[in-house]
Amino acid sequence: MKPQKNSILRFETIGSTNRYLRENIDVLETGTVVVAEKQTEGRGRLGKNWNSDNSMLMFSMLIKKAEYPKSVGLAAAVSVIKALEKLYKINALIKWPNDIIAENRKVCGILCESRIRRDSENTDKKYETDVICGIGINTTTKNEFFAKNMLPHAGSLKSIYGIDADREILLNGILTEFFPLLDESFTAIKSYYAENCLTLGKKILIVTEKNKTPAKALDITEEGFLVCESLSGETFTVNSGEVSIRGFNGYF
Ligand code: BTN
Repeated sequence: MKPQKNSILRFETIGSTNRYLRENIDVLETGTVVVAEKQTEGRGRLGKNWNSDNSMLMFSMLIKKAEYPKSVGLAAAVSVIKALEKLYKINALIKWPNDIIAENRKVCGILCESRIRRDSENTDKKYETDVICGIGINTTTKNEFFAKNMLPHAGSLKSIYGIDADREILLNGILTEFFPLLDESFTAIKSYYAENCLTLGKKILIVTEKNKTPAKALDITEEGFLVCESLSGETFTVNSGEVSIRGFNGYF
């Protein structure tokens, strides 16, 4: 359920905004947002680091008892797309599961982590899922930073479009889109997502440490899996915690 009012906690420097929420999850209310100017141990998907300086908008949101846990990441990606469109007329796209790509550069990464626990209240549901959704957007990051951190496919709003995005306005724009979306069904969120997705309906490469498997991306399940079709026509699913996706003819 959408929280009535977000409390926003601000830090100059923090280890990781996602970790802060995880460590304090029991005393924080749903809808809490943590924003940091700088992270010293920022975390990315697939166990990677998210290196940063103070040129990024970095924040995490806590959604307790998520109605549709797997739609939180999709809703976050959709909110970033919508906010970039409304504020700066930028047409960005989503690469599954929730990277935001503009002009063939990754401008934003999203890391969702969840905690499943027994329902403390006596409701019909046996388990509840709390989700922590962290978003990092390269606002004014310079190409030198990406080169130094070996991120050849990254870009920032400033490096691509010359836009000096006000991080506060961007944050508010995303929060305004995100929380109302959580009241929508998985199908409704997925349909916004699919309209702006680089992956669905496309030929892709599924990359693991050992293999690169060509396939066609068909759909996303309610469990968050990507449904694919192999070259021989078999349908199978992949999990975002285990694979990376590349475009068939290029990185994205
Ligand atoms: C990825 O693309 O790998 C996801 C990156 C997510 C980075 C954000 S920055 C704010 C939040 N706190 C973290 O430690 N990570 C996320």
